Amino acid sequence: MAKIGIAGGSGYGGMELVQILLGHPRAELIWISSEQHAGRKVGQVYPHLQGLMELNFSPLEELSSVDLDVLFLALPHGQAMKIVPGLPEDLVVIDLSGDFRIADPEVFEKFYHFPLESPQQQQKFVYGLTELNREKIRGARRIANPGCFASATLLALHPLFEEGWIEGPVLVDTKTGSSGAGRFPGATTHHPWRANSLFPYKPFSHQHLPEITQALGNPDHPVIFQTYSAPFVRGIFASHYMQLNQEATAEDLARLYQDRYGSDFFIRWVPDCPNVNSVRHSNFVDIGAAAENGFLIVWSVLDNLQKGAAGQAVQNMNLMCDFPEEAGLESAPVLP
Ligand SMILES: NC(=O)c1ccc[n+]([C@@H]2O[C@H](COP(=O)([O-])OP(=O)(O)OC[C@H]3O[C@@H](n4cnc5c(N)ncnc54)[C@H](OP(=O)(O)O)[C@@H]3O)[C@@H](O)[C@H]2O)c1
Repeated sequence: MAKIGIAGGSGYGGMELVQILLGHPRAELIWISSEQHAGRKVGQVYPHLQGLMELNFSPLEELSSVDLDVLFLALPHGQAMKIVPGLPEDLVVIDLSGDFRIADPEVFEKFYHFPLESPQQQQKFVYGLTELNREKIRGARRIANPGCFASATLLALHPLFEEGWIEGPVLVDTKTGSSGAGRFPGATTHHPWRANSLFPYKPFSHQHLPEITQALGNPDHPVIFQTYSAPFVRGIFASHYMQLNQEATAEDLARLYQDRYGSDFFIRWVPDCPNVNSVRHSNFVDIGAAAENGFLIVWSVLDNLQKGAAGQAVQNMNLMCDFPEEAGLESAPVLP
């Protein structure tokens, strides 16, 4: 069994990791941190886990005295970059924040509004979207786990960019559930404000935009990226509008996506419009599309805490530790 630690274990990303790891056949969670809850049992803080685990939350400062095979960092942006330089080189580290996703320090600072602490650390990190980067991830020791919006958009657009089908700008309109904002309520993220509403935020300035253009391999291709807060708890629903440089039928689109992702267990082509209900509580990504008169719409949906965060992180761990890629992640989506 691999010995696993989670820094930031009391947050939504950390707790999703706990829930996945409880059912993982090859991994044992032995350390989990929380500053607020240090010394308390995980099942006391999260009653749904009562009787399922005996572990106590520890303060983050204890990290250096624990012997781990894999460390997940599920901390707010800006925290992982303080910790990583002091970690052993051979430890597998998977960071869920944006700290190591952007290669260019100036671009990082423009979108995150603080500087990178040690830009040389960036080069050690591999961008952890498995379906785009599988072989690099397998050989890596440091993973920058992708953002939830970025994952949905990259999986939808990558086959089209690879084949060179797109003419002109891509318009991305993408909606997230409330758990995307984490555990702590803010003025625009707490329930009364957003439960019955839909509103845009961060026009032209969301931090996932540079991650997307960087991973598409063409930072100059115009991508107009708009995020919305939506009135559901889990899920990303991403719509992508563009013009094609050729005619494409429904059969052409099905062939493109099935050829690209045919052997990727977690990516499913759906002949109709996808629905967040079909991927909730799972690591699946459903992609569908429609084309007419040279115009194309592609939709992708995923669960922000699974394929958008903890599920993707465990998929990366599985590759890096030579476990079956789907280990711990095979459970079906949950309905209703
Ligand atoms: N939520 C999502 O859907 C999602 C998706 C993809 C990526 N992410 C990324 O994953 C990371 C975690 O997100 P989250 O949604 O889990 O956030 P969260 O619910 O706010 O949890 C943050 C965790 O970090 C700890 N923490 C907060 N400030 C800290 C500090 N200064 N030093 C040490 N620990 C601190 C908190 O625990 P204590 O206060 O108990 O110490 C808590 O466990 C973020 O970088 C986020 O951008 C989140």
